[in-house]
Amino acid sequence: MTINVSRSLLPTPTGLLEIPALPEVAQTVRPVYFSLVVPTYNEGRNIQRIVSILTGLLDQTFPHDYELIVVDDDSPDRTWELAQQMLPDYPQLRVMRRQTERGLSTAVIRGWQVATGQVLGVIDGDLQHPPEVLPQLLQKIAQGADLAVASRHVEGGGTSDWGVVRRFLSRGAQLVGLVILPSVVGRVSDPMSGYFMVRRSAISHCLMNPLGYKILLEVLGRGQVREVAEVGYVFQERQEGESKVTWRQYVEYLGHLVKLRSRGRISRFTAKFPVDRFLRFGLVGLSGVAVDLAAFYLLRVHLGLPIARSTMLSAEVAVINNFLWNDLWTFGDISQNQPGTRQRLKRFLKFNLVCLAGIILQALLVSLLHDAFGMNEFGSKLMAIVLVTFWNFWINLKLSWRVTDVRK
Ligand code: GDD
Ligand code: MN
Repeated sequence: MTINVSRSLLPTPTGLLEIPALPEVAQTVRPVYFSLVVPTYNEGRNIQRIVSILTGLLDQTFPHDYELIVVDDDSPDRTWELAQQMLPDYPQLRVMRRQTERGLSTAVIRGWQVATGQVLGVIDGDLQHPPEVLPQLLQKIAQGADLAVASRHVEGGGTSDWGVVRRFLSRGAQLVGLVILPSVVGRVSDPMSGYFMVRRSAISHCLMNPLGYKILLEVLGRGQVREVAEVGYVFQERQEGESKVTWRQYVEYLGHLVKLRSRGRISRFTAKFPVDRFLRFGLVGLSGVAVDLAAFYLLRVHLGLPIARSTMLSAEVAVINNFLWNDLWTFGDISQNQPGTRQRLKRFLKFNLVCLAGIILQALLVSLLHDAFGMNEFGSKLMAIVLVTFWNFWINLKLSWRVTDVRK
């Protein structure tokens, strides 16, 4: 049964960014199971390929029970027109040309507002998100997940040959998110992902108010998502056109985090703060202080090494001590699900980096508290140790022993 009852463009919704339980159009056409939005801006050289590949794939999985919704923001290369010309050959295709609004996140929401599916998805229109991952995501939803995310940071995931800068920016953005909005960003391993699907019931009647590119943050931050599942995918190199990500998207991302945080997400965070695990982490840290001092004594008194070298070596001995105990005891229940030497070495390297960042943070805090606020030296050192312990604990929990509520 054809979905697009006419070959014309879809009407563009206006007003609030709220996903209805089911849109009015569902009174005139039979609703489908799965609606996949493809947001486009200047994808004229990709649009035919992506529509034909997605159609070929979904015709096998859900014949006549899905729809593709291209939401184009009046691209200068007239992507919307190229998509519209495909309508006669692709009965499951629908096309929206937005002329008064712009932006990736709102494009996805406007597409979901006219969708008729019980499951709402989004995939980039430039073939950087491999379509062959879709059946695995749909399977996760069928198994009960409310949200199924294609992630670059779980087994089977990765980025093709991203430069160091883009990798650093992406991981850095994730780190900032873990600090500002841990209860949201910490729920998935790839909060930057723009490739996922969500059960309509988990986001219907939620008033969305996204900024920029990160629609997944909005779904996690405002939706009622209980179960999250993840599937690894490798982010592909673009063949045609170029990325629209600029520094502006990173600034908008920060604004988006702060906006979501101000919605009282803190309460949910404190309710979920793992106190017992934190206490174990603190005890391990104390054992590290004793090991640090003992090693320092041995290196200085018995081996006569210079003080700077003794300090650094004894600090590293303490880090190794802390990692072993944390990996065994504090986070043992998590690390046992991440077996193998390679995984353990990865955790150890991340732990070291976080501790190194913690040492730098501690030095900054001591000078701030002592020099700027006139606090006495030992008081500022003690205060800095306490603050950095929270930092070390939280970032290690979310990065080194990354735990997501992924269905096993
Ligand atoms: N309608 C609309 N409006 N579409 C847009 C806009 C816009 O303002 N900006 C970008 N798009 C479309 C692009 O045409 C493309 O199909 C998709 O959104 C992603 O845009 P890119 O500019 O190619 O983003 P990227 O490849 O650097 O990053 C993508 O992948 C990351 C990892 O999943 C984005 O999806 C990121 O959000 C995501 O983190
Ligand atoms: Mn892209």
